[in-house]
Amino acid sequence: MPKIILTGDRPTGRLHLGHFVGSLRRRVELQNKLEFDEIFIMIADAQALTDNFDNPEKVRNNVFEVALDYLACGIDPKKSTIFIQSAVEELTELTFYYMNLVTLSRLERNPTVKQEIKLRGFEKSIPVGFLNYPISQAADITAFNATCVPVGEDQLPMIEQTREIVHSFNNIYGETLVMPEAVVSQNEKETRLPGTDGKKKMSKSLGNCIYLSDDSETVKKKVMSMYTDPDHIKIEDKGKVEGNVVFTYLDVFANENSFQKYLPEYQNLDELKAHYERGGLGDVTIKKFLYSIIEEMLEPIRQKREVLSKNPEYIYQILEEGTKKAQKEARATLNKVKRAMKINYFENKDFLQEMIDKYN
Ligand code: TRP
Repeated sequence: MPKIILTGDRPTGRLHLGHFVGSLRRRVELQNKLEFDEIFIMIADAQALTDNFDNPEKVRNNVFEVALDYLACGIDPKKSTIFIQSAVEELTELTFYYMNLVTLSRLERNPTVKQEIKLRGFEKSIPVGFLNYPISQAADITAFNATCVPVGEDQLPMIEQTREIVHSFNNIYGETLVMPEAVVSQNEKETRLPGTDGKKKMSKSLGNCIYLSDDSETVKKKVMSMYTDPDHIKIEDKGKVEGNVVFTYLDVFANENSFQKYLPEYQNLDELKAHYERGGLGDVTIKKFLYSIIEEMLEPIRQKREVLSKNPEYIYQILEEGTKKAQKEARATLNKVKRAMKINYFENKDFLQEMIDKYN
């Protein structure tokens, strides 16, 4: 069976370091390992509309931004197919048929959806389309026969839901859909980056993100105002590392190389932490250190993005070609699904023959 990746993001804003750590850099890694037969990366504009239906401009604008972020991070259109969800109409049709296989209470139990409903104040009246998006995500994944879905851990309930749909579809209609698997980083530190304010998650709506496209000054400001240890007031004070965002980020981004380059007084992070804990190490030092490391990582991405943004024709062409290819794949799956469900009336003359046989 071919090894196929499908993954994607909602175009509701530019992508940030949380996306990068949670899934983006892993995708680039997987892409460059050349172990996969196909890689599809979807800009999920239709899904973005399930909770932004009243703001279509925002979704439209961010399709371009997300495409730029992908390419700037190293997604290579020669190796990966980038496409726009809504333009692959087959996905909507698949969703419609999968809806029969999922109960309302199952959707309401989905922990990610539950959390999002709360966050958006949808408790009293949930738009049906929003509640339904895990089913539409199952269509995204199965349409491309994806075997592997590299996502952040918040997406695990979606993959679980997809697996249930595949299981139940194949049970009822015969072996048709491919069973996908989620791939999240094994390393716990790499699964989720907290916001710069110390909140659990980096999130646009909380305003605690460092964007891949932020300029150097902006990144500096954000790092210098990061949440550390509120009781660490004077340099001599003992400091806490636990829950200190600067150290959480250093856990993710710093290596021995970074110390040699930017903070040679220390061998490694353990030494730095120990000094902070016993007192005598100021926040400014650790923040400057972190800033240097993040800058080194973001600068090439930023530069590439800048160049690409001057060539919208190129981005447009990549999206258009990617979408055409995706349409073809999804069409093949939809045909298979309709055949399995016995609703392929005009695919051949079988239906006619059945009518003839019945009354002759
Ligand atoms: N739900 C994902 C997110 O919010 C985006 C998405 C839509 C997706 N369809 C997908 C991710 C299919 C993986 C596979 O980021």
